[in-house]
Amino acid sequence: MPPYAMLLYLLGAVLFIVGLKRLSSPATALGGNRLAAVGMLIAIVTTLVYGEILSFTGIVIAMIVGSAIGGVFAKTVKMTGMPQMVALLNGFGGGASALVASGEYLRFAATNTAIPINVGVSIQLSVLVGCVTFSGSLIAFGKLQELVSGRAVTYPLQKALNAVLFLGTVVLIVMLVSDASLTTWFAVFVGVGLLLGVLSVIPIGGADMPVVISLLNSYSGIAAAMTGFVISNHGLIISGALVGASGLILTRIMCKAMNRSLANVLFGAFGSAPQAGAAAAVGPGDRTVKQVSSEDVATMLAYARNVIVVPGYGLAVAQAQHDVREMADLIETRGGTVKYGIHPVAGRMPGHMNVLLAEANVPYDQLKDMDQINPEFERCDVVLVIGANDVVNPDARSNTSSPLYGMPILDVDKAQHVIVMKRSMNPGFAGVENPLFFLENTSMLFGSAKDSVAQLVTDIKAV
Ligand code: TAP
Repeated sequence: MPPYAMLLYLLGAVLFIVGLKRLSSPATALGGNRLAAVGMLIAIVTTLVYGEILSFTGIVIAMIVGSAIGGVFAKTVKMTGMPQMVALLNGFGGGASALVASGEYLRFAATNTAIPINVGVSIQLSVLVGCVTFSGSLIAFGKLQELVSGRAVTYPLQKALNAVLFLGTVVLIVMLVSDASLTTWFAVFVGVGLLLGVLSVIPIGGADMPVVISLLNSYSGIAAAMTGFVISNHGLIISGALVGASGLILTRIMCKAMNRSLANVLFGAFGSAPQAGAAAAVGPGDRTVKQVSSEDVATMLAYARNVIVVPGYGLAVAQAQHDVREMADLIETRGGTVKYGIHPVAGRMPGHMNVLLAEANVPYDQLKDMDQINPEFERCDVVLVIGANDVVNPDARSNTSSPLYGMPILDVDKAQHVIVMKRSMNPGFAGVENPLFFLENTSMLFGSAKDSVAQLVTDIKAV
């Protein structure tokens, strides 16, 4: 590799790392994303120039077509559709790695050249991980887009079958590394890899897909890094390793915030049972929930000093973020303070609430993460729980039989008044009842979050 290419790859790698670091805060994330994109552009152009892979006409056409498709997706995909989009992008990444590694294998096979063992192993691992990522990501996409059932699909001997297929791939790798001419077995190997991707993702419930997508993202990085070894490309090795590691870290953070192990997410078939239907508004010991009118909540908010908004999945579904911002502005002009308590797994994708609220230009310093906001609930006059459920379920602290037990939650029940805004008594993602709704200091304001918050804005103005 010429020294200029090495230096440009180094520059690209530095931009990836600085870009990743800047992604850790919403204030710098946009700039970080752009830096990393520039790093990737440098790496791509360097590869194409020194590698002499295609004519420049081909390079320019591919870049224009690719950028146009990416640009249209970025502009048109709704925020709630982001997880699906990421799933597809991961899948394409894995598929691309598998194709490049397959190309290398077939080049050796065509010339009947023996493949050095280290290259052979890298090729086959890259093909395997790339195929699993590709087909697994397509299933994840299909589940989130509701093209296939979002239910966890389980059947007898499922794990045993997956284990047999996995062992089969190990045997095939050994065969293909020892003899590069076995192209028919290579086709079988690709087929088994694709099947393994499908079979590993179907037993996972649709709502766990963000964790799976993050894991598949990590796989796509691992596949890319291995392809980098195959074609001796430093840029690919570095960027693949960064994606692999960051995907794994994110997966771990999500599992920890849900108090579930990765094994439980992957093999626990969470969501195989149909979700509980509408729960009755009657709690333990026949306690009923208290309903409250929008006017009453508006009066409370108009005179409150400390208000905390706890957003959840329902806020995203209803797209109520702009109305929430307008309501918060009104409360502040009347002398109150508004903060937002953000649970790490509120919503359905990492950073879901941060992204939504940033879209409505909510100042970053008002967004408080769980550890920062929890001590503040005791001093808070009113908490508005908007479309959140599991992340405020007190059973997670005390009920050892609850599936949520052990999950860290936002301690909203400690506030003076808790207003829960949702459409019905239906449970959230975990499918369990929430005793918060039946507490003395809790009142329910039923309705879609967007309509309810818009009505509150009107009513606060009238106070
Ligand atoms: P959930 O517990 O899922 O509750 C969302 C609530 O929103 C539901 O109870 C629903 O009740 C309400 N809702 C739905 N549409 C609404 C609308 N239009 N207006 C008002 N309310 C609406 O959400 P959460 O508290 O954000 O917790 C997230 C859950 O997802 C956790 O269990 C977490 O472990 C899981 N999860 C999260 C992630 C990530 S990375 N964020 C990944 C995988 C799983 P109604 O139907 O009665 O309105």
